[in-house]
Amino acid sequence: MRSAKDFFAPLAVGAPAPLREIPARPSRAIHFFDPGNEKMAAKVPDMVGTVDVLLGNLEDAVKAENKEISRAGLVKIGQSTDFGPTQFWTRINSLDSPWVLDDLTTLVPAIGDKLDVIMVPKVQGAEDIHYIDRILAQLEAKAGISKPLQVHAILETARGVANIEEICAASPRMQGLSLGPADLAADRRMKTTRVGGGHPGYLVRQDPERGEDGVPLYDGPRTTYQQDLWHYTIARMVDACAMHGIYPYYGPFGDIKDTVACEDQFRNAFLLGCVGAWSLHPVQIKIANKVFSPSVEDVKHARRVIAAMGDGTGAVMLDGKMEDDASVKQCKVMVALAEELAA
Ligand code: GLV
Ligand code: MG
Repeated sequence: MRSAKDFFAPLAVGAPAPLREIPARPSRAIHFFDPGNEKMAAKVPDMVGTVDVLLGNLEDAVKAENKEISRAGLVKIGQSTDFGPTQFWTRINSLDSPWVLDDLTTLVPAIGDKLDVIMVPKVQGAEDIHYIDRILAQLEAKAGISKPLQVHAILETARGVANIEEICAASPRMQGLSLGPADLAADRRMKTTRVGGGHPGYLVRQDPERGEDGVPLYDGPRTTYQQDLWHYTIARMVDACAMHGIYPYYGPFGDIKDTVACEDQFRNAFLLGCVGAWSLHPVQIKIANKVFSPSVEDVKHARRVIAAMGDGTGAVMLDGKMEDDASVKQCKVMVALAEELAA
């Protein structure tokens, strides 16, 4: 089975070996549902096979008074559903909440053999992952679960971003990181009020035209370009994940109706190196599946470059462009992902 190490191998020359072999299974869309919401929960069995990951959410968006109902709902779904090719994840409550201990001590014995990944919100540093790692080990041992649960951290505090390297390296259970733009915006005291995506006020303006005397004409028409608020954090996350052989994900995009901007945001994340994103509505599953799968044309081109490069060293001209050892490595990343998704 391919592993995260294989996935990143073409990029990882000189990088430390990954901490553990993580089975590489497609996770383009991590679809969130509230297991305490009967209508949503009833749809889960029919969604198996239509999405890479189904995630029962216990944290934010579940009202405090419904935490226990949602947890119990998740146990019921976990016990009664055959997830087949779809991964089954949960997002537990944060480590500073009164619910997280009950989440772990209830879920691991009841459905620990069904769950693939535990998503941990608001991770601040390695100490949070160490705590989760130890408690999971104890609960797994007690329940006789031999397959270790994997851990996914949400990057949604300034401290978490500052400690990103140690978080990635904190446990061999680490599967990946997601950007949590909403909490991160609040923690950083950004001036947005949305869940992910851009902002019309975050822009750059084209330079003004200049008059014959060289003086800028500030009253002429000037195009503005909206900027990506999340570029820095995503790039940082991608580097840290590649270095440690785990997977980076864009998080949530809250404006469900704006499918165009959602697709743009997901695509930017894909092009920078992310492998998937969260889905908050079935329409976003389709977007993520499309965006996080390399296009037929891109794979075809990548195969041509690989074929033209023979043993992968030296340089060739193809369609007027120079290809060399480094471009062949990029092409291998593309082909490896296409093969992994087709497997
Ligand atoms: C997700 O949890 C976020 O805060 O964006
Ligand atoms: Mg959050």
